[in-house]
Amino acid sequence: MAATQESKILDAKFYKPADEFFPVHAGLALTYDDVTLATLYSEILPRDTQLETTLAEGLRLNIPVISADMDTVTESRMAIAMALNGGLGLLHYNMPERQQLSEVSRVKNHVHGLIQDPIKVSPDRAIGDVLNMIEAKKFSFSTFPVVDAAGKLVGLLPGHVVKPRYAKRKAAEAMTARDQVHTIHKRELGRDAIGRADKFFTEHPGIHKLLVVDDHDHLRGLFTMSDIERIISERNAQFKPARDAHHRLICGAAVSATRNAFGELDRDHILNHVGGLVDRGVDVVAVSTAHGFTRGVGDTVKLIRQTFPKLPIIAGNVTSATGTQFLADCGANAVKVGQGPGSICTTRIVAGVGVPQLTALYLCAQAAARKGVSLIADGGITKSGDIVKALTLAQAVICGGLFAGCTEAPGEVLEIGGKLYKQYRGMGSLAAMKAGAAARYGHAGVAAGKVAPEGIEALKEVAGPLDRVLAQIIGGIQSGMGYLGAANLEQLREKARFIRVSAAGMKEAAPHDVVELKTGN
Ligand code: XMP
Repeated sequence: MAATQESKILDAKFYKPADEFFPVHAGLALTYDDVTLATLYSEILPRDTQLETTLAEGLRLNIPVISADMDTVTESRMAIAMALNGGLGLLHYNMPERQQLSEVSRVKNHVHGLIQDPIKVSPDRAIGDVLNMIEAKKFSFSTFPVVDAAGKLVGLLPGHVVKPRYAKRKAAEAMTARDQVHTIHKRELGRDAIGRADKFFTEHPGIHKLLVVDDHDHLRGLFTMSDIERIISERNAQFKPARDAHHRLICGAAVSATRNAFGELDRDHILNHVGGLVDRGVDVVAVSTAHGFTRGVGDTVKLIRQTFPKLPIIAGNVTSATGTQFLADCGANAVKVGQGPGSICTTRIVAGVGVPQLTALYLCAQAAARKGVSLIADGGITKSGDIVKALTLAQAVICGGLFAGCTEAPGEVLEIGGKLYKQYRGMGSLAAMKAGAAARYGHAGVAAGKVAPEGIEALKEVAGPLDRVLAQIIGGIQSGMGYLGAANLEQLREKARFIRVSAAGMKEAAPHDVVELKTGN
């Protein structure tokens, strides 16, 4: 027994909890590779660990991972894939506002148990017109309910008649008539609408659409068999999709602290923008700037908080306890930490500011805990081990570079020297600022040669579908938790014990003295 006690005392001398470790290193800024975590007694298998995290009331993720609001990382396709995997995508704002609103709608309407407002056609619409609409709107489906001017269901236009050869016919001539269309009264859906629709499709082989109507035979929604099958299969996945109370995928959007021609905060513009996002069902807005500890960002957060009291707000970026406290006092629910750690960032080189991530996270975590807000580690993450370390101090991480090579990231695949790449650029790079992101870096516009870019344009090797990349990352996080005996993220934060790594130790951590074989994964 005495020997055990002695061993514990010895370990405790070397492996320190955050509150002892970081103050001892005050005055030295540390990042992920500067420390390692001690392994601890464990009864936890990696696969049994839980990764849920709450960023704000009503904003719960099933994995603590967020894709960055960057124009080469997150548009609706990435946000859908992130939410389907249990995380969150933050739509960037380097696009016209109207486009950002439609991107939110795309995510919110993605796989729904019930498509509440399906695309409809009128009985006198020509099939040629319907084909043009499919082409223009890039719809991936071609079956449409037919409703009259009063919203009453009159038939269903099936995909197999939406063909150029019938272009001149009216929908009314080609549709399946109302009395042969399968419908269900919305009252009959009960509490388990998915289960009800699933039962219907099993009982009606060959029928793939079920329309929902009300007492007046007005169309109230549409189930499709493929959506229902997807949702049922998701129920068995370890990490369930992140959904809102209406079973829609969750979605975040970045907003900027826009200024008017006089350099004042453009309150009307900000409120209109956020109002539009809220109308589309956005779950969280992120006031995303390079310097969040400023009057402009503070006033923007206050304005949004006053007008939308229940809307979760992420704000940043900061690297100090005071900055975190400031944003929390202004009304932010979650604070983003990171100035200059990003793989495409040059803020530290250009402006000589910013703090390596772990020290910044420790300082911010103290204030966040006092104020009851959550913390998001943003940037500088290159491997799953970094995420494990970040999660000892933060509730979630934001990754840009790790996802920029994924199929779901915006942008074309380029082939250079037989290898495939996708573009990845900093939002403070000249190209991104020219495309609209200048406000994030405190510039009103971009006149050539007049602003100093704080980011670079780069390439990332193509990484394949997000599912695959995330599976590796999640596996790593779970493995780290298993080593620490942490069943969930709260236990990870409690149990983490840190120790500094020497330069030789860092070298030892990576594969060395071998010729690595690529195994294709
Ligand atoms: P990673 O390391 O995941 O970083 O690629 C993504 C994060 O980097 C931030 N970001 C920038 N920082 N100049 C900067 O100093 C930039 O041009 C820039 N663009 C993005 C941002 O916080 C993002 O989430």
